[in-house]
Amino acid sequence: MFSKETYIARRAELCRRIGKGLILLPGNRNTPNNYPNNAYYFRQDSTFRYFFGLNVPAVVGVIDAETAEATLFGDDFTVEDIIWTGPQPTLHDMGAEAGVEQTRPMKDLAEVLRRAIEHNRTVHYLPPYRGETKIELSELLGIDIKMLHARKSIDLMFAVAEMREKKSAEEIEELERAFQIGYKMHTLAMKMCRPGVVEREIAGAIEGISKSYGQGVSFPSIVSQHGETLHNLNCDGVLEEGRMLLCDAGGESVEGYCSDHTRTYPVGGRFTERQRDLYNIVLRAHDHVKSIIKPHMMYRDIHRASYLSLAEGLREMGLIRTSAEEAVEAGAMYMFMPHGLGHGLGMDVHDLENVGERSFDFAAIRERAEQSATCIYRAAWRVEPGTVMSDEPGLYFIPALIDKSRAEGLYKGIVDYDALDAYRDFGGIRIEDDVLVTDDGCRFIGDKTIPITVEELEAVVGR
Ligand code: GLY
Ligand code: MN
Ligand code: MN
Repeated sequence: MFSKETYIARRAELCRRIGKGLILLPGNRNTPNNYPNNAYYFRQDSTFRYFFGLNVPAVVGVIDAETAEATLFGDDFTVEDIIWTGPQPTLHDMGAEAGVEQTRPMKDLAEVLRRAIEHNRTVHYLPPYRGETKIELSELLGIDIKMLHARKSIDLMFAVAEMREKKSAEEIEELERAFQIGYKMHTLAMKMCRPGVVEREIAGAIEGISKSYGQGVSFPSIVSQHGETLHNLNCDGVLEEGRMLLCDAGGESVEGYCSDHTRTYPVGGRFTERQRDLYNIVLRAHDHVKSIIKPHMMYRDIHRASYLSLAEGLREMGLIRTSAEEAVEAGAMYMFMPHGLGHGLGMDVHDLENVGERSFDFAAIRERAEQSATCIYRAAWRVEPGTVMSDEPGLYFIPALIDKSRAEGLYKGIVDYDALDAYRDFGGIRIEDDVLVTDDGCRFIGDKTIPITVEELEAVVGR
């Protein structure tokens, strides 16, 4: 945990932004996996942890936006619990660490909220993403579960998004720690990448690293020779000389901050000429993006810059026949990279995508926020000093998408479909690092680079 002053200051700032009503921030509970006492690995709600620091299940925070008074609701462990868990701190002691003086049993929460509603006070809550939280909020607030989305607090979403977007110095230190875990994961994957190894052997080994040095993976690892499948969680493949392995993986620091990196390299450790050419196109786009990011840029312009760079490379290879601009304008790059260039990164690996749209022009997106369950759009996102985002261009040859585009007559005269035939079994390449926007530009998170050039990878990938 950070010092209690950090959490007190965050809550005060949140109250300043919200001004009226109660702010209800439920922490996550233990979720049963296959029977009640065998729970999924516990993951705290990031917004609760941002404002209260506590990484324990079944605690709810309430902040009075008018007085800035915070209360934690939860139940102390009984002797029957302690038989299984060992001695635990009381809620009161945990609250003190977060600068919260008032703690109350969970059974009081419904009454506190009922009284606030009776007095016509707004109870601000974020769009819930877990089933249990939806049920809990529905019961506590007397709102039909289907109406929870309509009654969410857009003011709270925007305030939380704006605050969590801008990383403080101590948060950046945590992101650097998450990078160190990611570095160990990726360099181990590279060393293990030998013909005959099963993809899941690598996935298991690197996920073990994430648990040894932090609180586990920041998302399920993607370790696959089918890099063209963007989030390929199947890892049953046996590594074959001549193919490329895509490894997209990251870890969480002990304080819950995430890393997210991707490297793609040839099984057997030697790039073929075609692999090298395509790889260097992606690397050029990755480096180009890093060279242009500055504060106040719109994310969509950064994304477009990556498309232009990739399109220029494909033009040089003869797969695109027009200028890069024409290909991008026609939407042809969607076929080669059907995902955004990046996403926010912080306490969640796709940071704030359960909270709100990253933008400092919230008025412009209010209507869309009202309609969207989770507001994951990035179109109005403007990056500012303290923003952390991934830079993850890729080139993918997805036979189903190529065939569909060709059959529909899309990008005719722009894409050379006949030339593309030779790449149908190529797979996909993605390269990903995490960028911190600074006052005058940006830098990658981390004190070193995970091996990235053809030469660096050939030196480290197993043989
Ligand atoms: N790891 C998923 C992503 O890169 O967005
Ligand atoms: Mn990734
Ligand atoms: Mn990513």
